[in-house]
Amino acid sequence: PRIAVLISGRGSNMMSLIEAAAAPGFPGEIACVISNRPEAHGLARAQAAGIPARAIDHTAFRDPSGKPDRAAFDAVLDATLEAEQIDLVCLAGFMRLLTPGFTRKWQGRMINIHPALLPSFKGLHTHERALAEGVKIHGCTVHFVTPEMDVGPIIMQAAVPVLEGDTPEALGARVLAQEHVIYPAALRLVCEGRARIEDNVVRVDEFEL
Ligand code: GRF
Repeated sequence: PRIAVLISGRGSNMMSLIEAAAAPGFPGEIACVISNRPEAHGLARAQAAGIPARAIDHTAFRDPSGKPDRAAFDAVLDATLEAEQIDLVCLAGFMRLLTPGFTRKWQGRMINIHPALLPSFKGLHTHERALAEGVKIHGCTVHFVTPEMDVGPIIMQAAVPVLEGDTPEALGARVLAQEHVIYPAALRLVCEGRARIEDNVVRVDEFEL
């Protein structure tokens, strides 16, 4: 499949996907990177890796009253993905909510990485909240994207311990290292058709990390 990676920032998960997909025999091709923020550091990193990368600046899409027009942004995003003949979309630190129409259209063909063990800690500031709740295990989740944020069928998770004296930064770095392991692995499974949604949960064939 032809894969698009959507980012908003530094793009470390994007790089882990680009690096994995560059290995001989990887069952998919990263065809393009798209950022909703023109200043995203990840755009330059993608270009340096030889991947076509561009911004679609969401702030340029406003309705006549000046309010953000999510549907107009998503329509251009969708047209861009179609023009690139994309089969599979990876959200990698893409910090923009997508409209239900867009997510429904790409449902089963769009995956996301979330820095928490879903269904715990949906949304933002997951590491701060995990520390505030005193959980002893934290982690990350790759899941299929559905219209409701951070809710779709779970493909793969990794857990890390929460250690005494952890800061959000220290805990976040421990989680991020695992994100870089499971996102490429989950992408491979999805590309190979070895992660299938059945009755709202994902059945995964045997795999090795
Ligand atoms: C990651 O922690 C990811 O899980 C979250 O946003 C962060 C993006 O980091 N959705 P990067 O841009 O991949 O480095």
